[in-house]
Amino acid sequence: MFNLRQLPYDKNAFNGEFISDRTIDYHYSKHHQTYVNNLNNLIKGGEFENKSLYEIVMNAKGGIFNNAAQIYNHDFYWDCISPKKTDISNELKSAIDRDFGSFDKFKEAFLSQATSLFGSGWCWVVLNADNKLEIVQTTNADTPPTKNNVPILVVDVWEHAYYIDYKNLRAKYLEEFFNHINWLFVSIAYEWAIKEGMGSVKFYMNDIHKEQI
Ligand SMILES: [Fe+2]
Repeated sequence: MFNLRQLPYDKNAFNGEFISDRTIDYHYSKHHQTYVNNLNNLIKGGEFENKSLYEIVMNAKGGIFNNAAQIYNHDFYWDCISPKKTDISNELKSAIDRDFGSFDKFKEAFLSQATSLFGSGWCWVVLNADNKLEIVQTTNADTPPTKNNVPILVVDVWEHAYYIDYKNLRAKYLEEFFNHINWLFVSIAYEWAIKEGMGSVKFYMNDIHKEQI
């Protein structure tokens, strides 16, 4: 049985500067919790009952996939933001310069793709099969690991992620998201993506959800 992960900070950690405790209360305690509850109900008595989150995300379809992927997508999103300022590693900074031209160009491309994503979904930075950084959009619950892309950063652009605080102003939410990226976490995710590839995704999912395996 899966549990809702713990948040790496208090619910009021971003109050007044990014997202409110009310947003986190709905987003984490209600939406994220619902994906966990749904998955537990859907896998009961079936082939995925005792499978790890990684195995379910990589192999399931339909409702089981949607809820499992949304658990991972949200687990990863919460780790990608921090109330404290953190530094990017030299290795990741160089890779961004190499693959996007400069940090500013990367920021512009990431915010532009996140802003223009139609409907509900996620905007990611992944390490692709050619070991290059790439910005990818996914819709609804879709998640890059199913295409063997290793995520290092994600932003949730479902309306439930920002509507309470920003109403329809997605671009404003994204600017503040960018100011609160946990570059320490993202840099470590990049380091492990380089070292372990998809193995780092498997480790991340199953380490957070040890209760299931
Ligand atoms: Fe969400």
